[in-house]
Amino acid sequence: MSIIYDKIGNTFALNTCETTYGVAIVDNRYVAHGYYGKRIPAEDIRCLLREEEAPFTPGKNKRETGGFLDSMWMEFPESGMGDFRESAFCLRTESGYRASELEYDRFEIVQGKPRLLGLPATWGNEEDCTTLKLYCQDRLTGVRVCLLYTVFEDVDAITRSVIVENHGKEGVYLEKAYSGCLDMEDRNFQVVSLMGAWARERYIQRLPLGYGRQRAASFRGESSHQEHPFMALVTPETTEDTGEVYAMNFVYSGNFIAQAEKDQFDSVRMVMGLHPDEFCWKLEPGDTFTAPEVVMVYSDQGFGKMTRLFHRLYRNHLIRSPYLHKERPILINNWEATYFQFDEKKLLDIARESRKLGIEMMVMDDGWFGKRDTDESSLGDWQVNEGKLKGGLKKLAEQVNDMGMKFGIWFEPEMVSPDSDLYRAHPDWAIQIPGRDITQVRQQYVLDLSRQEVVDGVYEMVAEILRNAPIAYVKWDMNRPLCTLGSLGLPPERMGELSHRYMLGVYQMQERLTEEFPDLLLENCSSGGGRFDPGMLYYSPQIWCSDDTDAVERLAIQEGTAMVYPLSTMGAHVSACPNHILGRVTPFETRGYVALAGTFGYELDITKLSEEEKEMVKEQVRLYHRYHKVIADGEYYRLDSYRENERYDSWMTVSQDRKEAVLVYVQVLAEANKKSRCIRLKGLDEKAMYEVKDVTGREKAVCRSGAALMNAGFRILPEAGDFRSIMYEIRMKTV
Ligand code: DGJ
Repeated sequence: MSIIYDKIGNTFALNTCETTYGVAIVDNRYVAHGYYGKRIPAEDIRCLLREEEAPFTPGKNKRETGGFLDSMWMEFPESGMGDFRESAFCLRTESGYRASELEYDRFEIVQGKPRLLGLPATWGNEEDCTTLKLYCQDRLTGVRVCLLYTVFEDVDAITRSVIVENHGKEGVYLEKAYSGCLDMEDRNFQVVSLMGAWARERYIQRLPLGYGRQRAASFRGESSHQEHPFMALVTPETTEDTGEVYAMNFVYSGNFIAQAEKDQFDSVRMVMGLHPDEFCWKLEPGDTFTAPEVVMVYSDQGFGKMTRLFHRLYRNHLIRSPYLHKERPILINNWEATYFQFDEKKLLDIARESRKLGIEMMVMDDGWFGKRDTDESSLGDWQVNEGKLKGGLKKLAEQVNDMGMKFGIWFEPEMVSPDSDLYRAHPDWAIQIPGRDITQVRQQYVLDLSRQEVVDGVYEMVAEILRNAPIAYVKWDMNRPLCTLGSLGLPPERMGELSHRYMLGVYQMQERLTEEFPDLLLENCSSGGGRFDPGMLYYSPQIWCSDDTDAVERLAIQEGTAMVYPLSTMGAHVSACPNHILGRVTPFETRGYVALAGTFGYELDITKLSEEEKEMVKEQVRLYHRYHKVIADGEYYRLDSYRENERYDSWMTVSQDRKEAVLVYVQVLAEANKKSRCIRLKGLDEKAMYEVKDVTGREKAVCRSGAALMNAGFRILPEAGDFRSIMYEIRMKTV
């Protein structure tokens, strides 16, 4: 039983294979938090509540509730009544009062997992998971709240979300509705988050948690390059393999907040949910609001275990695409090859040469529609520019198909250029505040996808293109944040709903797209990796990781991304050198090994490669086919981080049966007078023998036990030169 209700103690134990999450009802009224961590017996939850300690529970304390509210560990703390830590819920009445008193009412336990209306979320059937629903109500307003907890027993993960219903007679305003809250005793926690910028996405940051509040948040309308909807609290000794990790990740692609707070009593409250800035949702009588989902994972074996739990959950219970476990076509994208300057001849030249080298899909990026030759116009005019592509899209796609390649295309469906027929016809479709200039970013405006007619209009344009040409892949881009927030379709009292309604519009479009075109391979993208989040993964099995394709920079970006997301989701390409962003020159081989950690493809003018480089492309294509499975579906182990040691990087993946593994080592900076470096491998079978072979065949293969490779390590010889790398195949020997 993964959820145990103890009638005597009035507690709930949510058990996964290795963890327990404990909830208790106090005074038949408050939903209190008891425990989260390594598995414990259900009977112990009640005594963990410290009810005998001042200021006691209100039932035992005749004088006041304030002290109790401000110190008890709560599952869904509210604003306005005396809990002065961060609340998870804030209600405002029509008369302007801001408070609620959610009283526990009843519970329900159901097998499986209910869908969250209009939202991406993890999924599972009756065998996979069990859901606890805790119903609470605020008597004064008639608002009812259902706290949902789904336990994925085998995956050691718990998800949470919240449904709010107005059963009262008057409208109310939801000013805050977070999805997850976790109260705990401080253990000298450190806060780990993924911070960055455009071209520097998801760098791992680790800081001590002091008194007060530390947060990662976005109100850019997207999950963002800068901060990421992920947070982990870790004990100070935490490494890849040791220490305790409490992690949360938000299945959402818009505004979010993730926050840790250490209070006066050395308790820590970690919350995650919709960012309360730019959010205020009106609930008329009878209305319902569903908050997006938070995923919670606990690891008693450091970051490595946390990572593998997230990977397992997302591979088995989040990503829906039929491509998830399929070998994705190796693609070539023309963006860095041509930017906006191309015609059908150039694309066909690239496709022809690519095909010869084994590349399987030609992707036409930005610039094929309207009169778009720069980023100054035409977003929204989703008709092919026949001046550029003579004969049109269908003909081009068929010509590429005739070469034996698939054809893919770029869209930016959420945007409109001021200089576009769409904007001229529907100026009211842009997000705007009447009387103010719309802030332009990359010379574009954001479409108001909170309006159904806009969603329908844009969806039809995109779908029409896909209906009329053999298009196997779509790169869905989004190149600016949301600001000057206003909708000409929303009444004043609903203006605070715009950002979330916008995301619901995006999700609706992606839902429709994946339903109408079930074989389409969708790759999400946002100016590189500005919307790399679990919400997007629900619709697309891969997301463009970053516009920074430099092999060295990618080590940190991919390391941070892979901390939470499976390698099979990371869009990674080999690009030309000097790198377009950094000007750095790295060996072609290293660019290949780094890109092989992701979905793999090319982003360069292949017609300009030397013969030697073309031979290397062929070899990389071979490596992709050979090792794709173990990289995409294997268990990922971060061995050494260049970001931490400033010299070298290494990672490996191991097949689920531990018979096969791949190891990549990058010597970022050469060191003088150095001997070999010993890398301790992970995830192998201690008792088995393995052959370790350099994939180029330059080094002699060696045979070692799993125990030796993991405990003593594997020696890698230094090479002259920076940015050198080597990839090994590790295969279990059969006796
Ligand atoms: C940003 C993306 O990250 C790039 O790969 C490219 O598609 C450009 N947009 C096109 O405008």
